[in-house]
Formats: sequence, C-alpha cells, structure tokens
Amino acid sequence: MNHKTAIATLLILATSITACVTEKNDGGFSAERQVEYCQQQVERTLSELRDSTGRIDYVMTPRNIGPQEHHWNLRRVDTPEEWCAGFFPGILWMAGDSIEAARFTEKLRYLAYQPVYDHDLGFIMIGSFLKGWEQNQSEDYKQVLLAAADTLATLFNPKAGTMLSWPRNVRMFGGHNTIMDNMINLELLLWASQHGGSPRLKEIAMTHADTTMSCHFRNDATSYHVAVYDSITGEHKYNCTHQGAGDETMWARGQAWAIYGYTMVYQYTHEKRYLDWAEKVTDAYLSSLPDSTRIPYWDFSRDDFRDASAAAIVASALVNLSELSGKKAYLDEAKTMLENLSKPPYISGKEKPSFIMHSVGNMPAGTEIDYSINYADYYYLEALLRLIEIQEKNAKK
Ligand code: GLY
Repeated sequence: MNHKTAIATLLILATSITACVTEKNDGGFSAERQVEYCQQQVERTLSELRDSTGRIDYVMTPRNIGPQEHHWNLRRVDTPEEWCAGFFPGILWMAGDSIEAARFTEKLRYLAYQPVYDHDLGFIMIGSFLKGWEQNQSEDYKQVLLAAADTLATLFNPKAGTMLSWPRNVRMFGGHNTIMDNMINLELLLWASQHGGSPRLKEIAMTHADTTMSCHFRNDATSYHVAVYDSITGEHKYNCTHQGAGDETMWARGQAWAIYGYTMVYQYTHEKRYLDWAEKVTDAYLSSLPDSTRIPYWDFSRDDFRDASAAAIVASALVNLSELSGKKAYLDEAKTMLENLSKPPYISGKEKPSFIMHSVGNMPAGTEIDYSINYADYYYLEALLRLIEIQEKNAKK
C-alpha cells in the first residue's frame, strides 16, 4: 500500500532511463519502463488540460476516452455523484507529480464534511487523500481522511451487518443494498482505525467483510454484484446484478473488487479467514479466464468485449496476494496480466493519452463500452509500482 519507496526509485529511474517508450515491445516487459510510459502519458494529459494561458481547471477530471476518441472526456468533481473523482489525483500521486496531485486532491476535501452521498466516498478519498498521505504523511490529510471515514461509516446498518452502497436505490432494490465494489471502501475505515480513528471503524469493516463473505457469493466462490437486506430487520433477502450480464453470472469487475477487497482486508487485519477467502475468490476467477492473455471479458458468460480494468485491478491485488500468501503463482499471473496490458491491443501508446484501452464501464446501461477509463489506468499504475516494490525487495534478499 505504501508506494513511497517505489516512487522514489522510479523518479531516479526516470532520469536514468532514456529509451523512448513506444508501442513496440522491443525488449520484453519491464515494469520500470511502463511506469515511465505512464509518466509520459500523464504529462500529455496535463498539457491537454491546460488552457491557452497554461491554467488548469482542477474541478474537471479526466474520466474516459471512447473507442473513436483521442482526448479525455472530463467530469466535474464538485458533485459527490462523480464516483471516479479520486482516480486522476491518485494517478498523479503515484506518477510523482505531487504539485498537480495536491491541486486536484484539494477539490475533494468538501466530501469529508457533508452528509455521505453513497459508498463511493471511499473510492474517492482513497485515490486522492490516502494516496497523497502515503507520500507526504500530512497531518492535514490525515484529519480529512479521519473525517471521511466517520462520514462513510454512517452508511453502516448494524442489523444487516454491511454498509449501504446506494441510498438513492433503496426503493428500487426493495431494501438495504450492498454491492461487491463496497469492499474497496473498507480500506478507508481500516486505515482510519489504525491512525487515530475509532476502533469501531475496524469493527464495521470486519463485520461488512464477514457478512459479505456469507451472503454475497455462490457456492463456487463467484460473486453476485448486489446483495439486498431488509432495512429494518437486516435479514438477507436476495442477490442480483446491476452491471453484470445476469443475476447468476460472474461480472468480471465485481469479482476483481472481491479479490482486491479481501486481499486488502487481510493485509490490514491479519485475520486468516480473509486470506483464505481472497485465495478462494481469486482461484474461482483465474480458473475461469478465457485464455492465456489473462484479460477477462466484461462478464464471464460473454465473449464480446474485454474489460482491461478488471485485469488491472486483479493484477494489483495479486502482487500483494502473492506476498501475503507466499504463493509465487499469483505473482506470475499478475506479471502475465500486466505484460498483456502493456502491449497492443491494450496499450494506448500514441493513440490516446490514457495508459490502457478496452475497458467496459456499465454494459447493461450501455455506457463506457470499450473505453479507456481512469480507474483502469489507476490500478494499472498501482500494479506496476507494487510489482517494482516486490522485485526490489526480492532482489535484496
Ligand atoms: N464501482 C463501480 C464500477 O465498478 O463500475
């Protein structure tokens, strides 16, 4: 989780590596070279964001690039509805541009101090303030994160044992809804409980992870997207999908959130049941991948569009899972995923200022199909940095 060492190393590498990074795979996969490529793409993005006077409007964040487009579509972040608001600041922190990262991050501060809109507050704050805190250990950022964790925790329903994901959709689902993606937001609670926040935040996170483990998976450890509980009694009512192909199919990014989420919860809590579950949900995913590229289709029941974002999330999780479990096979899988994301047809190269292409946002809604999306880039870069950190650690052994 702490990329400080990797980033410091990369900044040195960035000055010493002079080879131009191209779409051509001229020397095999190199995580260091791909990070340098990401830094170049970030520079490209920033220069596109500057107006003729050189000014950037930090309220507008790069969100996606369509299949026929070559420039980022921007979204406003002065509304809590933009769930992807934290990813571009996070990319900037990871790429080592702390000045621009801090400016984009600042625009999200208000979210910690107003009633929560939905569970995505976690995604937003983890990408921005937590990634920033990992770099600067700022007391100010810590206070924002602690406030945000308390705000996020207001979504917890002790009867159901999970946090409500979408308050606006309670009526639509007929109850307290929790989506698998919510596992990622537990990091904000777990981090806060380790940094001066209430111990209750950790209890909430673990209760959420435990309830999700019992109610949100099929017998084969593949996940449902949505679990619905009675808002009053907390009773588990039913499971369904929102972004997958069907209620009983495995939505690729949903399973990716489960893999990343349980790995992260184990990393913070050291409770073995989370490690065991992380391995189980990972094995269910890996054993169903369609081919040797290790990039899934957006849903495991389909064979039309791949989802590079799911592969990037899983790659990042598997680098950590390999360390935590001591199983090198997970690291080998992560490397294969990253290697394939780092070459055509996935790498954006000169074509677009994103890092990678071919993600699917929400197929049932018909949005962001075959797009570059900022979270795919975020997890791709995070995975590369984690890999470098592990490789350096192993080299010193
Ligand atoms: N958290 C929303 C998604 O994965 O699309």
